[in-house]
Amino acid sequence: MRKNIVAGNWKMNTTLEEGVELANNVNALLKERKPNCDVVVCVPFTHLTSVNAVLEPELVGLGAENCSEHVKGAYTGEVSASMVKSTGAKYVILGHSERRQYFGENNEQLLAKTQLALENGLTPIFCVGEVLEERENGSYNDVVQGQVEALFSLSPEDFSKIVIAYEPVWAIGTGKTATAEQAQDMHAHIRKVVESKYGKEIADNTSILYGGSCKPSNAKELFAKPDVDGGLIGGAALDAESFMGIVDAFN
Ligand code: 13P
Repeated sequence: MRKNIVAGNWKMNTTLEEGVELANNVNALLKERKPNCDVVVCVPFTHLTSVNAVLEPELVGLGAENCSEHVKGAYTGEVSASMVKSTGAKYVILGHSERRQYFGENNEQLLAKTQLALENGLTPIFCVGEVLEERENGSYNDVVQGQVEALFSLSPEDFSKIVIAYEPVWAIGTGKTATAEQAQDMHAHIRKVVESKYGKEIADNTSILYGGSCKPSNAKELFAKPDVDGGLIGGAALDAESFMGIVDAFN
C-alpha cells in the first residue's frame, strides 16, 4: 500500500548555518519517536550536502526544491538532477506553484524535469493545485486534472515512482487551509484521474500529499481522510517542534 509522508519545503529560507541547525533538530526529535510516516526535508541547493551530513538516512530523507530540465552544460545558475542526486538527496519537489507562477514553468518543462529526476533515481514530489479564481469559478478539478495529465506520457513504471502533492495556491502561506473535505474531494479526484490512465493498482499506491497552511493543529483532521497520505509543509517546517507536531499527527 501507499506510504504516508510528511515532507518539509524550506523554500528560500535559512542561511546554511541555520539550515544545518534546523536539520540537526529535526533529526534529534525523530530519534526520540517512531513516526508512522516517512519524513523528508527539501532544502535549498546550497544546503544539500551539509544537511545530508547531519541527517540519519533511516530517519529522514533529503530532497531538493527544484532541478533543471536540462541534462548538463551551458545553463548558468541551473542545477541538474544528477547534481542533486550526487549530494545524497533522494527527492526533488517539481512544479511547485511558486515555480509555475514566478518562474513561468510550464507542463513541457515539468515533464522534462520529471523524466530527468526519475532517470537519476530521484523521487519527484510533483505539485499541482488551482489558484483562487479557479476555485471560485469551479474549474479547479479540470485545472488539476490537466496538471496531472501533463505526466501521462510517462511509462506506468515511471509514474508509479512519483509522489503527488495537492497544494491549492490560495492556501499556501495564507493561513487559510483547505477544509479536510475539500482536500479529500480533490485527492480522490486526482486518484481517479491517475486510475483512468494507469489503472487501480498504481492509483491506489500513489501517495498524494496535501500542502497549504498545514500545521500541527489541523494535520490530524486532514491526514484522517482516506485519500490524504500526508503533507508538504512550508512555514511550519521551519521550526523543528512544529514540523514534528505534524509528523505526530500520524500517531
Ligand atoms: P505553507 O505550509 O507555508 O502554506 O506552504 C505550503 C507549501 O507551499 C509547501 O510546498
